[in-house]
Amino acid sequence: MQRIFSGIQPSGIPQLGNYLGAIRNWVSLQADHECVFCLVDMHAITVWQDPEKLRSQTLTQTAILLAAGIDTDKHILFNQSAVSAHARLAWIFNCVTRLGWLNRMTQFKDKAGKDRENHSAGLYVYPSLMAADILAYKATRVPVGEDQKQHLELTNDIAQKFNHDYGVEFFPEVEALIPPAAARVMSLRDGTKKMSKSDPSAQSRIELTDDADTIALKLRRAKTDADVLPAEPAGLADRPEAKNLVTIYAALADLSVEEVLARHQGEGFGPFKKALTDVVVNAIAPIAQETTRLMQDETHLANVLRSGAQRAQAIAEPIVSEAEKIVGFLK
Ligand code: TYM
Repeated sequence: MQRIFSGIQPSGIPQLGNYLGAIRNWVSLQADHECVFCLVDMHAITVWQDPEKLRSQTLTQTAILLAAGIDTDKHILFNQSAVSAHARLAWIFNCVTRLGWLNRMTQFKDKAGKDRENHSAGLYVYPSLMAADILAYKATRVPVGEDQKQHLELTNDIAQKFNHDYGVEFFPEVEALIPPAAARVMSLRDGTKKMSKSDPSAQSRIELTDDADTIALKLRRAKTDADVLPAEPAGLADRPEAKNLVTIYAALADLSVEEVLARHQGEGFGPFKKALTDVVVNAIAPIAQETTRLMQDETHLANVLRSGAQRAQAIAEPIVSEAEKIVGFLK
């Protein structure tokens, strides 16, 4: 059985993009993989996080992932900082990674913008910690949204260079599992920007804890154009907001974009947004309700993470110890 590793930053409430790009896939991959899922709190602090909020968001995300269907009886869910193997392997990878490789990372460029000098060194080496997350488990498959593709290519470059430099066949090649549809869900306020849990405007995203009224309001206010829905996908070109809403509908209703357009062609966005609200509420409301129930027992949530960390540690420790031996650390 192949091993899966994937992570999410506890830097806010997971949004619809996290769900369609990653979490929904995580849930279904559990059927035939050994899965390790991680709340990457060390990645989260690469930009400022309020400590109390980070702690509470880590528990909330645990509840959300359980509510969405992560099965911690069979699979592992834990927070990154609880397993020191990640930091140790990340340091080795910082010494393997070339500056030129990091300079090419588009996510760093997007996040740092023009004010590069004022960002943390952690944000810059973010991708080598990510490679360490995956390779500390020798995981071979990584379900992520499209924005992580470049980081996974870098993971393979790092693994290859490590193997080459030390003359070993130690780290495996990693395969990105990117969903065929909705791998990049866009902001509700600007169809050219990615939907993000850290966007200052909560109106830009559907959060997995939103209730039906909030979802309806956010979709009513979502930016659109004045045109009607076209008959063919080609009619959505150059209409990023319209394309995004149709894509969300299709992904959540398990339909193709063609099928959605066949049903709704000629409609304006008033009626289409009402239909979309039903589809989104159907998918999200059960998760939100179950999250509220689970949040009543924080001790249970903390125990889930603690037990997950122990099981994660048992896998990662021997692998990272071996990597340390390979580079020549005296044991
Ligand atoms: P994060 O928290 O930013 O995102 C978690 C997952 O959600 C996906 N995602 C999206 N998918 C589609 N549309 C969107 N608008 C959207 N926004 C986010 C991301 O692609 C991701 O799969 N760097 C990772 C966390 C991480 C990780 C890892 C992932 C750390 N170590 C090791 C895999 C393996 C991230 O972006 O988290």
